[in-house]
Amino acid sequence: MSPHTDDCRGAATVPRTDAGLDRLLLDRTLDLAELGRPGARPNPVVGAVLATAGGEVLATGHHVRRGEAHAERACLADHAGDVPADATLYVSLEPCSHHGRTPPCTEAIIERGVQRVVYASGDANPDTAGRGPAQLMAAGIEVRRGPSDIERRALQQNAGFHSVHLRGRPYVTAKWAMTPTGRFATGDPERRWLTGPESRGFVHYLRAGSGAVMCGIGTALADDPRLTVRGPLAARTPDPPMRVVLDRELRLPLDGGLARTADDVPVLVCCRYDAPAERELALRERGVEVWRAPAPAPGAPCLPAATLAMLAARGINDVLLEAGPRLLDAFADADLVDAAIAFVAPVDAPDDQPGLALDHPLVQLALAAPGEPSGDDTRHAAVIHPAWAFPGALAD
Ligand SMILES: NC(=O)c1ccc[n+]([C@@H]2O[C@H](COP(=O)([O-])OP(=O)(O)OC[C@H]3O[C@@H](n4cnc5c(N)ncnc54)[C@H](OP(=O)(O)O)[C@@H]3O)[C@@H](O)[C@H]2O)c1
Repeated sequence: MSPHTDDCRGAATVPRTDAGLDRLLLDRTLDLAELGRPGARPNPVVGAVLATAGGEVLATGHHVRRGEAHAERACLADHAGDVPADATLYVSLEPCSHHGRTPPCTEAIIERGVQRVVYASGDANPDTAGRGPAQLMAAGIEVRRGPSDIERRALQQNAGFHSVHLRGRPYVTAKWAMTPTGRFATGDPERRWLTGPESRGFVHYLRAGSGAVMCGIGTALADDPRLTVRGPLAARTPDPPMRVVLDRELRLPLDGGLARTADDVPVLVCCRYDAPAERELALRERGVEVWRAPAPAPGAPCLPAATLAMLAARGINDVLLEAGPRLLDAFADADLVDAAIAFVAPVDAPDDQPGLALDHPLVQLALAAPGEPSGDDTRHAAVIHPAWAFPGALAD
């Protein structure tokens, strides 16, 4: 077998397993991976379990933070003695074989004498895809991939990581709050939020898991948001998400919540190629970064698409789009929304308030997903473009 194939999975030749115990323990690796959600970014979240053939769990691990041990190494370090000959190492993502910030996981697996490895999903990174499993097999280790349903879940768990490698852009989750009639605001200056504390707390969790939080200038002007991670999750988010504003004419106020906090958490404003230079200078003096889109040309990507490509190149895997109806509509129109989370709050608002019609495709997609209670609100979460459907995402 070639150690590296152009197929990003590089996994077509790795046989699958559907054994009950393998399923159960792969499932556990996916749960463990979630523990690394805010810290591992921009690395993928990964979990690992070492267990005997009888199902006794000897050790567990997950990738806690970028630059620290990968899940496989953390798991093997959690087991002090020899690895029993019948033990299997379960991992939610194929083990890496390359020297990055940490040494290759395959080295540790071979050195510790692990005889069997089962992983849930392949790695989309072309520098690594398929190499780890090939190296393990060359060392005489039995390697299996998980069943395709678990592989799909594992791919979705790291949708942003796979999206950047396979599509050249981050995974975009649009999140908004609306009244039952589709209004995004009440017009009541006394009412800052539509939703209750449970829903707003969940938004901080979504922000913490994202490399960037984005809105349009309309939201920045109307709400003066900070778009930061606050509350208990802030301490567990070593690398707070960058704030990104799509603001074609550079209207972002110099004394607003975003510009004022730009020295603490980066703010990037994306504007037209010909936006006023004096505004750029003034924003830069405030510590705000300004990115000018390329001049329009036939066939060139629209501003949202160009912005996403630029963010991917800067290592941003996941974007949380917290825009108002205008930018949401622009993203939806360009088919750039991958997942939608709508909070429906039991609040009345006049029809003249900003919003999206209930028959807008994005609203329809979101509301078609089952509603979960979120305090007094209802949360609808829909996956529009699942990671396992990205071109080249599945080996078979
Ligand atoms: N309930 C919620 O979840 C929620 C969330 C956010 C906002 N809101 C509410 O929504 C209202 C603001 O709505 P909004 O639609 O004006 O906010 P928005 O969508 O965040 O911003 C719209 C602005 O973004 C800029 N923009 C940059 N690139 C664009 C593109 N490709 N397509 C379209 N616009 C682009 C445009 O201004 P330029 O042309 O100057 O660049 C546009 O006017 C406020 O009342 C706010 O309170 C509610």
